[in-house]
Amino acid sequence: MSESIFTGEEYIKKAEELVSSIGIPSQPRIVAEINDEIKKPGADLKKISDIIARDVAMSAKLLKIANSPFFGLKEKTDSIQRALSLLGLKNFNNIILSSSLRDALGGHGPAAEKFWNHSMSAATISSQLAGRVGFAAVEQAYIAGLFHDCGIPLLLKKYPDYVQIVDYALGVVGTDSLSGTNRSIIGIEDERYSTHHCAIGFLVAKSWYLSSVVTQAILHHHYVNIDIHTDLNTRKVSAILLVADYISSYLLFLGGSSCTVDSEEDWAKRHQKVLAELSLSVEDIKDLREDFTEKMCRGD
Ligand SMILES: [Fe+2]
Ligand SMILES: [Fe+2]
Repeated sequence: MSESIFTGEEYIKKAEELVSSIGIPSQPRIVAEINDEIKKPGADLKKISDIIARDVAMSAKLLKIANSPFFGLKEKTDSIQRALSLLGLKNFNNIILSSSLRDALGGHGPAAEKFWNHSMSAATISSQLAGRVGFAAVEQAYIAGLFHDCGIPLLLKKYPDYVQIVDYALGVVGTDSLSGTNRSIIGIEDERYSTHHCAIGFLVAKSWYLSSVVTQAILHHHYVNIDIHTDLNTRKVSAILLVADYISSYLLFLGGSSCTVDSEEDWAKRHQKVLAELSLSVEDIKDLREDFTEKMCRGD
């Protein structure tokens, strides 16, 4: 697949037109404010608590999580600041980003449900994998996983026939049965809509002020040649995302998607650079897939 399909101005321009015709789901102001505060060195918990306290729904969500059995509090708390310190700023940031993205993108029905399951599992797997390979910016990996396919609900909104190919977009591979040829989902999207979900997702992520590490990883998440990234962090996050996307599509396949999924061996053949970047072998990918499948079955 040519590099220009991901970086060519005409693709981004077409994605911009499409996104503006649907209306880009904007990041809620309060989320942007909290994000700004969290990013500051020595982030002030009291200041962040004050911002949260202005939003009833967000306060309720935070207290509900802090008072859940997971944290084992003897007495329930109604203090935003205490709830925030229990959860930790990074966890809280992930939670508000995922719930506000979900609210912003909307969507109902089986396709939207599959999209969310896939996005949430890609986010979780990305962050856990980042920890395992010793990549410090676990947070960035989580956000890249969460947002990587966010162009899909917009394509679903704009083009009713996108529902026919949504399983293939979420499945990374397996378009043979759909097209009769071995074309990628990106090629099929390009042919039908003159753009693709990576370019649309890139624009949404940019409008949510996500870092360039994350936006670039999103734009290239169906491109196996990670050499395209000269920045080391972007290269690492991209490699993590490619593995997480593969394992997440495997989980979707087990959950009853109509797409097929490459075997670990076939996937590994095409992703040698990704494996080398993360110092992983095909066996490691198999172990990871089994490990995450077990976790999914247990509902972790
Ligand atoms: Fe994708
Ligand atoms: Fe994906």
